[in-house]
Amino acid sequence: MGIHDDLYARTRAALPAWLAIYYEQPIAIDHGEGRHVWDLEGNRYLDFFGGILTTMTGYSVPEVTEAIKEQAGKVLHTSTLYLSEPMVELAAQIAGLSGIPDAKVFFTPSGTAANDAAIMLATAYRGSNQLLALRNSYHGRSFTAVAVTANRSWSPTAYTGLNVSFVHGGYRLRSPFGHLDDEAFTAACVDDLRQVIDMMTSGDVACFIAEPIQGVGGFATPPDGFFGAFKEVLDEYGILFITDEVQTGWGRTGEHFWGYQAHGITPDILTFAKGVGNGLALGGVVARAEIMDAFQANSISTFGGNPLATTGALANLKYLLDHDLQGNALKQGARMRDILEPVVNETEWIAELRGKGLMLAVETVVPGTGEPDGAKASALMEGTKERGLLVGKGGLYGNVLRIAPPLSITDEETEEGASIIADTIRDLS
Ligand SMILES: Cc1ncc(COP(=O)(O)O)c(C=O)c1O
Repeated sequence: MGIHDDLYARTRAALPAWLAIYYEQPIAIDHGEGRHVWDLEGNRYLDFFGGILTTMTGYSVPEVTEAIKEQAGKVLHTSTLYLSEPMVELAAQIAGLSGIPDAKVFFTPSGTAANDAAIMLATAYRGSNQLLALRNSYHGRSFTAVAVTANRSWSPTAYTGLNVSFVHGGYRLRSPFGHLDDEAFTAACVDDLRQVIDMMTSGDVACFIAEPIQGVGGFATPPDGFFGAFKEVLDEYGILFITDEVQTGWGRTGEHFWGYQAHGITPDILTFAKGVGNGLALGGVVARAEIMDAFQANSISTFGGNPLATTGALANLKYLLDHDLQGNALKQGARMRDILEPVVNETEWIAELRGKGLMLAVETVVPGTGEPDGAKASALMEGTKERGLLVGKGGLYGNVLRIAPPLSITDEETEEGASIIADTIRDLS
């Protein structure tokens, strides 16, 4: 029995059966450098998924690693009961970057906890348990986050104390409005939003939560301006706009620092996680002070914003900004598209290439019918792995290949990884 086989058997024995694990022969990552990782059996891979869009600046970036080591030697943990220099410095920096005026930041240990905090803020501020969310969404794994998630593969329960209505969003390929052009598509979704508010709520809805590009949902990307049109309706009712930037934040879309900026809006609340810590457990919520300060009771976080995570995040953000990794995401995303577009166009079983910057996806279908073909996406995953490339999978039907390397990827690595994907597609055709 190999090292991975043994580890897999022990994993299935000790951890829940519902834990999704990639690959027919799962691997454990032993270490990484730059955009490469090595598994426990010594195989080297180019990583185009970064631990679910989380390894943002790369593996073993000396500037980040050194900052973490130094802080680890001082103090790991203090809790929010004590003042913390790295926590307040990071909060001020993220508030400034967020684009939200008069912003305050609350740190959490995950994206799920960030969305929980955002929803608790919105419901407390508005005095309502009514929420709006998008179909095909994913906002995390807690009881609250699952309540606003519309993806059966990731919804273990339908129980909730929230009153959630789901409206049509940007997953155009399988939308009843998908045949319409950008403007008409947006107008149809706005009509649906208005009708849902009028028919299914009492009007005093607390908030609308949306991923600017749906991550787990397979990088479903609405037209630019889509959420601007939504916000006009939401504003009529005073409904708060929460942008879930857990996947789209920090410049990953290339053209903007946040996903919401493609839509000409300023959100009321923004949630973040994943890339900010480059793997350290860190998330958070940003909101205007009048919303953030709305709780009448005390609230703390034991782990949220701990000194280790915030020190690492400060170094990580500095690296991101100093090296203009948003600009690199734009450049490498375009390079990747140039390589993938021809093969996608010639392949009947791929419905489309979509996404922005370094958040690109291909959706696999049965030729002729357009039915989702999850087996083909799995074959693509296995085939790219055999050639030394890690990518992700997603979509409601598990039929979307997700391509999201660290934002520091080089020209050569983009060309190598994209060519592996293109070759694997051709081989499977
Ligand atoms: C858009 C989005 N929101 C929230 C979450 C939950 O984040 P976490 O897994 O850190 O709790 C995820 C995780 O994939 C996500 O993609």
